[in-house]
Amino acid sequence: VKTIKSHQTPIYVGESYKELDSYLPSNTSGVFFLVDENVFQTRQKEFEGREVIIVPSGEQQKSLNYVEELIGVLLLRGADRSSYLIGVGGGVVCDITGFVATVFMRGIKFAFVPTTLLAQVDASIGGKNGVNTGDYKNMIGAFSQPEFILVDPSFLLTLPKKELISGMAEVVKHACIKSEMYFNYIEENIASILTLNMEVIEELIIQSVMIKAAVVEEDEKESGIRKILNYGHTFGHAIEKKNQLAHGEAVSLGMVIVNSIAAKKGMLDAVSETRINDVLKKIGLPVNISEYDLVSLHSLVKNDKKKAGETISLILLNQIGNAQVVTVFIDDIPSVIS
Ligand SMILES: NC(=O)c1ccc[n+]([C@@H]2O[C@H](COP(=O)([O-])OP(=O)(O)OC[C@H]3O[C@@H](n4cnc5c(N)ncnc54)[C@H](O)[C@@H]3O)[C@@H](O)[C@H]2O)c1
Repeated sequence: VKTIKSHQTPIYVGESYKELDSYLPSNTSGVFFLVDENVFQTRQKEFEGREVIIVPSGEQQKSLNYVEELIGVLLLRGADRSSYLIGVGGGVVCDITGFVATVFMRGIKFAFVPTTLLAQVDASIGGKNGVNTGDYKNMIGAFSQPEFILVDPSFLLTLPKKELISGMAEVVKHACIKSEMYFNYIEENIASILTLNMEVIEELIIQSVMIKAAVVEEDEKESGIRKILNYGHTFGHAIEKKNQLAHGEAVSLGMVIVNSIAAKKGMLDAVSETRINDVLKKIGLPVNISEYDLVSLHSLVKNDKKKAGETISLILLNQIGNAQVVTVFIDDIPSVIS
């Protein structure tokens, strides 16, 4: 087990879920498990004797209505100020659990057992939580850190392949913005990753968690360096909505677009640009921008919450492993892409 710290939160990578009890304090009046329905189905036995609340799968659960429903259930079951929440699931369950724990009775303790690759390498780390309102993602939320995060890679054995591939977009993102060595490792191990070689998967999670933890440690509230984690996300979000893509697929296309902007600006060399495209393609992520609807991208970007005046901050690479926040005039973007 490798322990990585982020804001005093220990992240236990490679720990078995069966060891969970050894991390729980004995003085809580009740430990409540918020468990993703699909995870519950595959691991029912391991939840016997626990206070379980099953969370239906899907982004639509990230709503204030559902949060209120959950709080009602917690009250009915006798939860109080010393109760403890454990979120067992993907990014959706982690975001909901963190938010409910932060507002319930002005805050109770919580922990995460992330079960998707995306949640293990990204969503569970950093202390951001929240829910959506209407079409607006993550508009209601808070910063608050869990007591611990237990990352058991064996959860990935039941994860649908599409979700694994989607999570890989964030893994490639981490390497691109912070570590060429890590990028080389991914490049050399794609086959083992896709067949879930646990040794390789664990190494991947360790590298990604270290990068995400280091970045958010430096800048918890996203006033500076944390912005580099948005690499591929500004255009990604716009494409995701417009083309109904999985998040990782959209981030992949978003990275391709910003890389081409960086290349046209003379920041990123052609060899690196091609290497990143090839890795994404081999993983099974989309890279061919021309197949997607980008027509109204410009207008969508104008409504992006990252907009500032007539310019927008984009995260561009000047080499694999090194990202910079660059201010680009919004009106220049379509011409640069074309
Ligand atoms: N807080 C943050 O910093 C942060 C960062 C990135 C993303 N997010 C959020 O994360 C969410 C996306 O997370 P996600 O991609 O994990 O999606 P998700 O939580 O919806 O899970 C994806 C699917 O996998 C299923 N699943 C989960 N674990 C499984 C397992 N072990 N075996 C079988 N099926 C399993 C779920 O039921 C679901 O159908 C988004 O809401 C996004 O906003 C938050």
